Amino acid sequence: MTKSSNEKMADLVNVKAGVQKHQIHNDEALFALEMEKVFGRSWLFLTHECSIPNAGDYITTRMGLDEVIVVRQKDQSIKVFLNVCRHRGVRLCVTDAGNARGFVCNYHGWSYGANGDLQGVPFEEAVYKNRLDKCKNSLHEIARVESYHGFVYGCLDPDAPDLKDYLGDFAWYLDIWMEESGGIELIGPPARCFIHANWKVPSENFVGDAYHVGWTHTSALRSGQSVFAPLAGNTALPPEGAGLQVTSKYGHGLGVLFDAYAGVNGAEMIEDLMAWGMAKYAKLEKKLGEKRARLYKSHLNGTIFPNNSFLTGSGVFKVWQPHEPTKTEVYTWAMVEKDMPDELKERIAKSVQRTFGIAGYWESEDNDNMESESHMAGGTIAKEKVLNAQMGLGGDFQDPDYPGLVGESAIGETSYRGYYRFYRDLISSSSWEEVNEKSENWVEDLIGGKSNV
Ligand code: FES
Ligand SMILES: [Fe+2]
Repeated sequence: MTKSSNEKMADLVNVKAGVQKHQIHNDEALFALEMEKVFGRSWLFLTHECSIPNAGDYITTRMGLDEVIVVRQKDQSIKVFLNVCRHRGVRLCVTDAGNARGFVCNYHGWSYGANGDLQGVPFEEAVYKNRLDKCKNSLHEIARVESYHGFVYGCLDPDAPDLKDYLGDFAWYLDIWMEESGGIELIGPPARCFIHANWKVPSENFVGDAYHVGWTHTSALRSGQSVFAPLAGNTALPPEGAGLQVTSKYGHGLGVLFDAYAGVNGAEMIEDLMAWGMAKYAKLEKKLGEKRARLYKSHLNGTIFPNNSFLTGSGVFKVWQPHEPTKTEVYTWAMVEKDMPDELKERIAKSVQRTFGIAGYWESEDNDNMESESHMAGGTIAKEKVLNAQMGLGGDFQDPDYPGLVGESAIGETSYRGYYRFYRDLISSSSWEEVNEKSENWVEDLIGGKSNV
């Protein structure tokens, strides 16, 4: 009996054994399927509300392989359209951002309002003889758009859960820095560059690979003198109880290093940033209690499934945009707290470019590994082999104080396994209904893992 294609997809990730096929990082057919089943169904980060505050403000971005225009409307709502002219299908808006009453196509001059309506057609009466129904030729509108504390996400699938349900337990962690901190702004436009890596490789790294920091980033740690400097050269591990790993039902996950608010910022930033973080922590502690407020003054690395990553204290906010199996466009914003003084915001923005920008000294250390991991997955033999994600397998548990599933130590692969568990369910299902059925026992699935399966 031959296996159905959904069953074959499910075989790519063995949750119980904590392994994934290397093929997932470099495969044309799988990439095409991901665009449909992952990017066609998940909530995808589009922009932050602060980037388009006024009616007519717009940005252009991507949802998988589709290009979209995100426009603020007169009633302050946000609409998202395919950036494709209805006539011959050329790219309608060719700029990254701006303010416009509408968009005029480069090819024959059809013009659309900011609300997507087709408004003007050159020589309409003469060439279409009044037979063109303009109402049927508005821009294609994206099914779902929602904002979460100013972070705007879109989803192509009308049957997907609401954004809040999609974030689920993970929202408890996001709310600490997105809301309780007083709110966040992103400083853009995002820096953009390409890496020759599969989109999942940086997503999985940010979701919870604390293991590589002391080794891969030895140079950055030694030259930048960040709060993580003691890890340089793998001479020390974070001590017992120094951090957390968390995963959640829909694959979102994070890693925490406690009390390391200043993150990857260099020596010139540490004192001022720690002073800022500690002063705000004192206020949040009264409101949220010690345990939850502590996460504010800690460093969080995470990924909102599938391709939106962040480093909280480091001020780094990323989207990994897939173009080809081993070609990903990286968008990088600086992330600052709204109530920070302008001078501090400016310093953080520069620091983000120094550390995780296009030529950032942390970023470039990561890129070599990410490109290598993706390239090697193209080997005829290598692609059939499995990758090991067994660190901490069998030790994950539910903690009454922390939502989601928690790993037993600061360094482990709990959130990595959780990310691929959900990826498996998404890629092997035909609908959100089926995804939810498969994901119902997600905790048992992950807890039941044994490395000898
Ligand atoms: S393709 Fe846009 S007006 Fe013809
Ligand atoms: Fe890294």
